[in-house]
Amino acid sequence: EKGGYDYFMLKEIAEQPKAVADTLLGRIDAAGSLSLDEVRIPGPVLREVDKVVIVACGTAYHAGLIAKYAIEHWTRIPCETELASEFRYRDPILDQRTLVIAISQSGETMDTLMALRHAREQGAKVLAICNTNGSTIPRESDAVLYTHAGPEVAVASTKAFLTQLVACYLVALYLGQVRGTKWGDEVRSVVRELSDIATQVDEVLETMEPVRELARSLADKGTVLFLGRHVGYPVALEGALKLKELAYMHAEGFAAGELKHGPIALIEEDLPVVVVVPSPRGRSVLHDKIVSNIQEIRARGARTIVIAERGDEAVRPYADHLIEIPATPVLLQPLVATVPLQVFACELATARGNEVDQPRNLAKSVTVE
Ligand code: M6R
Repeated sequence: EKGGYDYFMLKEIAEQPKAVADTLLGRIDAAGSLSLDEVRIPGPVLREVDKVVIVACGTAYHAGLIAKYAIEHWTRIPCETELASEFRYRDPILDQRTLVIAISQSGETMDTLMALRHAREQGAKVLAICNTNGSTIPRESDAVLYTHAGPEVAVASTKAFLTQLVACYLVALYLGQVRGTKWGDEVRSVVRELSDIATQVDEVLETMEPVRELARSLADKGTVLFLGRHVGYPVALEGALKLKELAYMHAEGFAAGELKHGPIALIEEDLPVVVVVPSPRGRSVLHDKIVSNIQEIRARGARTIVIAERGDEAVRPYADHLIEIPATPVLLQPLVATVPLQVFACELATARGNEVDQPRNLAKSVTVE
């Protein structure tokens, strides 16, 4: 059942192009409009929404952090993303005009379930993004958008994450479409580019041998840091989480802009630091800033592992290891930038002799609070 792979995780990483394509299937028409008929929250209700709150845990929370950028950019509705386990304890402000999005692969995560119950009690509408048909979270929500990743067996989430991102982008674009905000050429072109992502993920998968080699060479390290900006920041958090749970290594993700507010003190000779570089097109300010961050950490001896768009020559002189990814629109970059980090963590876990599919102390579905 592992389809010739040593681990389910490897199989699931390889299945990502299909998972992404399947999640888009039937949801975009020939004219580039979205038809999410399954989202049974009526148009008038969606047009009244004045706040979006995303609740989720772990990797699904990282998908939610990325969704915040997309939702606010494409719909101009304020959006917050919260850890489900923190949400209801701080007495959040919710009402009938709040749309709560609960993201969960399993649909059984207790923290997320309790958060959505709390939100519904306050009158908010809840949309679930879920990978498991008929599970508790979608059953208790007002509507559900299923991800079509297929069953995910490995404890470390990979293909479910990519499809959660796709679903979040679809919801963001759909909200834009229904409300008429930003529904024009920009969004239409994003929809087209979303349709190319499966091929691009495939391209990334084809070029992973140097990443595996690099991972093996770092097997005896104690710490790896991850830096990103904008949507690259949650990607950095996700890279760090993968490494913690699979390699049992100390790994931390930071917003690169925070470096000088503390974390730069951690930088020492030969410390591996992975940096996710935003596209040099579009938001060039972000790009320039991260290039100086890379220079700063390298000047202090860090071993820089740079994930950047193919053809990004500005980063090359400062990258001890350069991992190139295809060019995508800025907001979609996490779909391709996360893949090398999954491969990196999986290979490091293997090199350290860890159980890849079933890391110690973890369960696939966390049904206790
Ligand atoms: O099933 P869910 O998406 O609700 O699970 C949430 C987290 O427990 C899950 O993403 C966890 O962080 C993964 N093991 C990460 O790889």
